[in-house]
Parts: sequence; C-alpha cells; structure tokens
Amino acid sequence: MGAPQEGAATIYLIDRTDNLSSTDFSETEAAYISAAASREQSMIPLNRFPAMAYAVVIKEKGGPATTADRIRKSGAELSGSLKAQKIAAVHINSSSANGEAASLFGQGLALATYQFLKYRKEQEKLQHPLTAITFAEGAITPEAVKALEVITEATFRARDLVNEPLNSLSAMGLAGAIRKMGEDAGFSVQVLGKDDINREEMGGILAVNRGSIDPPSFSIMEYKPAEARNTAPIVLVGKGIVYDTGGLSLKPTPNSMDRMKSDMSGAALVSAAMWAIAKMALPLHVIALVPATDNRPGENAYVPGDIIKMYDGTTVEVLNTDAEGRLVLGDALHWAKRYKPELVLDFATLTGAASVAVGEHGIVCMGTASEEVKTALRESGERQYERLVEYPLWDEYGEQIKSEVADLKNVGGPTGGAITAGKFLQHFVDYPWMHFDIAGVSFATAKKGYLAAGGTAYGLRMLLDFLMKK
Ligand code: BES
Ligand code: MN
Ligand code: ZN
Repeated sequence: MGAPQEGAATIYLIDRTDNLSSTDFSETEAAYISAAASREQSMIPLNRFPAMAYAVVIKEKGGPATTADRIRKSGAELSGSLKAQKIAAVHINSSSANGEAASLFGQGLALATYQFLKYRKEQEKLQHPLTAITFAEGAITPEAVKALEVITEATFRARDLVNEPLNSLSAMGLAGAIRKMGEDAGFSVQVLGKDDINREEMGGILAVNRGSIDPPSFSIMEYKPAEARNTAPIVLVGKGIVYDTGGLSLKPTPNSMDRMKSDMSGAALVSAAMWAIAKMALPLHVIALVPATDNRPGENAYVPGDIIKMYDGTTVEVLNTDAEGRLVLGDALHWAKRYKPELVLDFATLTGAASVAVGEHGIVCMGTASEEVKTALRESGERQYERLVEYPLWDEYGEQIKSEVADLKNVGGPTGGAITAGKFLQHFVDYPWMHFDIAGVSFATAKKGYLAAGGTAYGLRMLLDFLMKK
C-alpha cells in the first residue's frame, strides 16, 4: 500500500477477459495490450516516458496452486527487467479476479531480488536496484503486506545463513547467529556448549563432533506469547551440520562436497521460522532446537564400526560416518520429549536418496502426525508451491536398521534410503511428529525464478503458512 515512489514502474495485473477500456489504459495502450495478449504474451511493457509500466496477464490454468505459482514466477521474471533498466521502485495494481494476484506477484518479485553479495568487492554495483514495492489501494490487505515483508526477510535470513561457508560459520557461530535473531525478533535463546553437551551425554552429537577442531552447539529457541492458542508447544528441529565432509567415510571429492556448507539448511529454516513467528507475533507457543557441528575426519574422529550411545541410551553401530544427520537429530528429538509437545516437525538435508527420488521439485516427508495435520501440511505445501510427498514408515524398513551388535545401525542398506533414515529418527520420538527431508531442494546451483542460486530456504513458506493457519 501507499503512494508510488518517484520514477516507479507501474504494474497492472489483468485478466485476459478484462475490459481494458474501463481501466487506466489509453486507447492505444488498450489495443496494444489486447493484441499482445492474443499472441499469448503475458508481460507487456508499456513505455510511458519517463517511467515504465507493464501489463501482466494472469492466466488461470491448472489448479489454483499452479496459477498462484505462475503469478509468483511472473513477478520473478519482472525482477530481471527491473535490474537491466535499473528501476528502483514498482507500484502494483490489480484488476484480476484472483484476489491474491498482487500479493503473489509482489512476493515472487521480492524473493527474486535476493543476492548473496557479502564477499563481493563491487557490492553496490552488483546490488539489485529495487528498493520499494508499493501496492494500489484495494490490491492487497495491510495484513498481507506485513506477512509479505516478514516472510521475505525471513527467507533472506535463512538463505544468508546457508550461503555462509564453514570458515565464517562454525557450530558456535551458528548458535551466535541464532542468538542475534532472537534478540532482533524477540524470542529467547539458550545455547548449550560442548561442556553442557558432554554433561548431558548427547552421544550422537558428540560422536559426530569428534573429528572436528571446533566445539558443537545445541541451540534452544522459545517463543511463548501470553495469548498462545496451544497449551502443549509445537517443536521445530533443524539439522545443523555446518559442513559435511562425510567424516572418515569421506565423500568423493568431485562435486559431492561442493554444496555441503548447506547441510545446516534445516537449522537455517527453523531459526528463520522462529524469527518470522516472533515478528508476526503469531499466537503460538513454539520451540526450536538446533544440534550443530561439522562432520569431518580428524585424529580422533569416530570410525565405521564404532558403537555409540545416544542421548536416550540407545546404542548405535556406526557403519558409515556420512550418515551423521540422524545421529545429531536423534539426540535433539529425544530432548524434545521433555516438552510433551503437541507436534514436532524436523527439517533436515538428510539423504541423497530423497533428492534422487523427487529432485528439486518437492520435499519428501513422513511421520506419525494425525491425518488432519498431514492434510493441513500438504495444503500449505500446495499453496506455497513447496510441495510434499509422503513416504510410508512401514515396519519392514525398520528391519533394515537393526544391528547384530547394537540396538540400531546408522545405515539401512542400498534401498529405501530416505525412509530408513526416517525410521531411525522415529526411534527417538514418542509424540506426533513429521520429518521433512529437504536434501533435494535446499540448495540450487543456478537461480530459477524466485529461488536464488545457493540457499533457497525451500520449505520455510510451507511451514509458516501451516503455522499461520493454526
Ligand atoms: N548431508 C547428506 C545428505 C545430502 C546429500 C544432502 C546430498 C544434500 C545433498 C547426509 O549427511 C548424507 O551424507 N547422507 C548419506 C547417508 C548414507 C551414508 C546412508 C547419503 O544420503 O548418501
Ligand atoms: Mn553425511
Ligand atoms: Zn549430512
């Protein structure tokens, strides 16, 4: 909302069926737009010297979720033109019958302007020029504007965290960043350091950390408003492997380690979610847990064959030190029991298998939450186009992680890898729970629409949508 800024490009979101003569267009413009639209052109630039205007034709095709995402993507498409023309402001009008068109378009545009320039010398020159998006009266509600602002910034914060490399973001560094987010948004943060983690005997985290030269951390975030609607808290858990070399079961060098600074994407997602929850003052009691360490070979590193004792007392035969995520998560999931939570949602870049299965187009999820919760999550995923595919937690998969010498082993063999990892986690829960394997979606090698290259924060909007509707 608000008046357009000086020099702002004006955007008109229109339907194919709109009567253009009843709008702000001149007769020549209306004829030009009609002709372009009949040629299936959807973004139609209008030169109104000295400023630009664009007519954007909304096509209702496919279901509402597909249409919604097409609108986000057309916002992202505009961001490219704005950059080329160094346009600093846009003002969005909508005459579309789709009441969310303006907000979706604004979201796609805003999210597409993200860049990670912290380490670039010519930051100012490279910076996307857009600094202001305003909306015409009636195009969007004030609540939607606020949500748009908060969710955009939360996404950028999550992406920034993922994009920070290990040499600037250790496990304690991640805890420090989380602490700052808590101070900024208004949620409490408690950080357990190595001594505390030792004292608690969190054997999963300690085992993974043994090869590291840096101490682990365990961050506990809490947002508890007086008017919380839930009595038992919702607990979020995020995998915080700040770098995954595979440990002694070292990942092969060609390419497979290139993106492993992103193995804390789950941690980035849940801490950015906490930031957004507090900023929007959602009436929910939410706790988030982030177990963090890097995973690397070292003189004292854990080795294949080691039998470790998890925080809950379960013994685990470690057959592959690269299956480290489930070890740190098992400890965090056990910690979560103390809250007698209503629901626990964990986010983790857990398996290559999830990425092989659905690629970059969705999240593999599984869990013990009620059908009602699963449906709500699935709908949030559709609305935000961060879609969920549910996998089964059949008992047979549990057989694959049984060990001869310990209660469990940390690998389940060559098949069903995403699920056997989930079965491992299930061993540590006694509450309604969902696990989200974001390995395929959390990091992109190239920019795609409103998803940035590098950290994407994929899953964050799905989670926030779910919580906002609760
Ligand atoms: N962090 C990886 C999973 C991953 C792979 C994330 C590719 C993003 C992209 C995880 O710790 C891992 O190494 N998993 C192993 C488990 C296996 C050893 C049982 C995997 O999926 O190969
Ligand atoms: Mn690994
Ligand atoms: Zn990992």
